[in-house]
Amino acid sequence: MQDQELIRLAFHGRKEAYAPYSHFLVGAALLCEDGSVYLGCNIENASYPAGNCAERTAAFKAVSDGKRDWKGIAIVGGRDGEDCVYCPPCGICRQVLREFCDPSQFFVIMARSEQDYEKMTLEELLPHSFGPDYVRG
Ligand code: THU
Repeated sequence: MQDQELIRLAFHGRKEAYAPYSHFLVGAALLCEDGSVYLGCNIENASYPAGNCAERTAAFKAVSDGKRDWKGIAIVGGRDGEDCVYCPPCGICRQVLREFCDPSQFFVIMARSEQDYEKMTLEELLPHSFGPDYVRG
């Protein structure tokens, strides 16, 4: 799948963002190895810590659908009514993404538009990461 298409889907996911407290709307599109794509948005809560990021929404949707092999993710975020910024995944989301991928291959696209984006590997964003091999028997 082309980067542009995944970004377009992330913008689609962002339409459902529920962020009445921060007014920072985020969408994510997670590409699985089998070609399927899971969309996510941030979902805030009146009890602030109970909110969830767009990336984890997409990740948990994928896992709950039996998809455990991930190729990359596109993220679009920005304040409501303003242009998107290059929105990097938070530390917790980086760790969640780490679980079901090869961090040296998994790509993270941070996009302002379909044409304007940064692309890095998860390993670059989360070096020396703690993964399943450390704890598997
Ligand atoms: N947020 C995300 O959904 N993903 C990110 O990569 C950064 C932050 C959300 C969490 C919260 O709802 C809002 O953006 C402001 O932090």
